Amino acid sequence: MVRTLHVLSASTRHVSAGRPLARWITGLAQARSHLATELIDLRDIDLPLLDEPELPSEGRYVHASTKEWSATVTAADAFVIVMPMYNGGFTAPLKNAIDTLYGEWRDKPAGLVSYSAGPSGGAPALEMLRPVLGRVGLRVAEPTVSIPGIAEHIGGDGGFVPGPDLADRVNALLDAVTADA
Ligand SMILES: Cc1cc2nc3c(=O)[nH]c(=O)nc-3n(C[C@H](O)[C@H](O)[C@H](O)COP(=O)(O)O)c2cc1C
Repeated sequence: MVRTLHVLSASTRHVSAGRPLARWITGLAQARSHLATELIDLRDIDLPLLDEPELPSEGRYVHASTKEWSATVTAADAFVIVMPMYNGGFTAPLKNAIDTLYGEWRDKPAGLVSYSAGPSGGAPALEMLRPVLGRVGLRVAEPTVSIPGIAEHIGGDGGFVPGPDLADRVNALLDAVTADA
């Protein structure tokens, strides 16, 4: 049963256009009273590049940052990953955040939301991520959502301005993520 949902914002840029989107999605999830939803911003998590002496699959961590990240991911029953596309792929901080752990991800559902400046909405990055998630045992929930022209969705106040059908599409993704357990 999915009780705790983490919305992972995968850009570490201080000007991230995805952060307002991730906040908006978090708000949609928080409207579901049975769910405890938290926004986890990889900029705030500020993980170093993986430097654990043992394999993450051993689960024996020496760095405090890894132990904290492990506790954060363990606390979630499911995830929504909000990710930009950089040069046709997913972001390095997202890959590092995944690789830093292993068993903590296993058998949990993940909804995927990608975005980009261009017309693809980051769908190629999302497809690139699928096999990585499969390796750590995360189960991708369908449908996924890809949002093109992300800059056009940022309002003058810095908030996210959804297109006409986006709330329905994201709610369908949230239904799938929370049902899939
Ligand atoms: C390193 C880098 C590479 C990018 N590559 C692409 C790309 O291949 N296709 C695209 O449509 N937009 C690309 N963009 C534009 C991003 O999709 C857009 O700037 C988006 O806002 C980035 O997400 P962020 O602001 O949350 O970091 C790229 C941006 C960066 C910083």
